[in-house]
Amino acid sequence: MCRYAGMMTRMQTRRFGRLGWQVSEVGYGLWGMGGWSGSDDEQSLSALEYAIERGCTFFDTALAYGDGHSERLLGQVLKRHPHRTVYVATKIPPKNGQWPARPDYRLEDVFPPDHILASTETSLKNLGIETIDLQQFHVWTDEWAHDERWQRAVDDMKRQGLIRGFGISVNRWEPTNVLKALDTGLVDSVQVVYNIFDQNPEDELFPACRERDIAVIARVPFDEGSLTGTMRPGMTWPQGDWRNLYFSPDKLPEILKRVEEVRRDVPAGMSMPELALRFILSNPDVATVIPGMRRKLHVETNLGVSDGRPLDPELIERLRRHRWVRTYFVP
Ligand SMILES: NC(=O)c1ccc[n+]([C@@H]2O[C@H](COP(=O)([O-])OP(=O)(O)OC[C@H]3O[C@@H](n4cnc5c(N)ncnc54)[C@H](OP(=O)(O)O)[C@@H]3O)[C@@H](O)[C@H]2O)c1
Repeated sequence: MCRYAGMMTRMQTRRFGRLGWQVSEVGYGLWGMGGWSGSDDEQSLSALEYAIERGCTFFDTALAYGDGHSERLLGQVLKRHPHRTVYVATKIPPKNGQWPARPDYRLEDVFPPDHILASTETSLKNLGIETIDLQQFHVWTDEWAHDERWQRAVDDMKRQGLIRGFGISVNRWEPTNVLKALDTGLVDSVQVVYNIFDQNPEDELFPACRERDIAVIARVPFDEGSLTGTMRPGMTWPQGDWRNLYFSPDKLPEILKRVEEVRRDVPAGMSMPELALRFILSNPDVATVIPGMRRKLHVETNLGVSDGRPLDPELIERLRRHRWVRTYFVP
């Protein structure tokens, strides 16, 4: 954390579980600027800069995003704001390079202790900081929950002051595949896909986190962009862009059909991105939501939603009908 807090934040904050931090309830996701096509570093830097000025204090990146690219961009911005209180979360990639982790993968192939330490040291260098506030595993299977090797590695890094907190970013659409790990007492936060479509974490994961005072980071609030309401039939991205897989021609029509159904529930005067974020923020189990943003305009819109006004309970009930249980494979 860059300490010496001073400036009053203009955004709402929430307590980050048992770590006790007060973080902005709208945080910042950096995946796009690290690896998606159409990213422009100058644009990303100015968006990050603006977010810090506006009082955003929680930034989620990963060593895997552009092989450290988004960590380095964040590091550049942090250097310019040594007096701001900003919490940095990053992730250790799976050593075998496979997303998501499968139950039959061996811990020694994915998160061996030397890889945990080496990745953390590389991230520290990329970010230009001495301690990572929140280090997370980028994939997980609960088959490893009771394996002492990762437990010891995490504990060692905390004792050495390399990290302050430890979290797990769970596989897409597998929100219960972490419950055993929560019982170890070593997990400070869980990062999970939670949005108007993906409401399953409410069933078991959120109550489990609430009982243990573990912070919830809600990721992918816009379903990778569909819930912003800006996508069109037949859309494709340049070769190599991961979104070609997520929004493949066999999946896009159904996604867009469901988006149109959500659109009918958007109240007058509210935009779809605003509704998507307000749905998530209306749930007090969420400590922070991390929209992916590369444009200043998006930062402005999204941070502006943090005004402490929850959605009307009747509207939340209507939005519950858009729950979509997806199980097909997407990394
Ligand atoms: N396995 C994991 O741990 C994992 C996996 C996925 C995501 N994550 C984390 O979660 C974060 C969020 O997920 P995501 O970035 O994949 O998807 P997302 O937040 O659901 O969607 C991001 C997309 O929405 C657009 N957008 C943002 N605000 C907008 C607005 N107000 N109006 C219109 N469009 C808007 C962004 O555009 P611009 O980029 O052009 O601004 C981007 O194309 C990631 O950045 C990452 O930090 C973690």
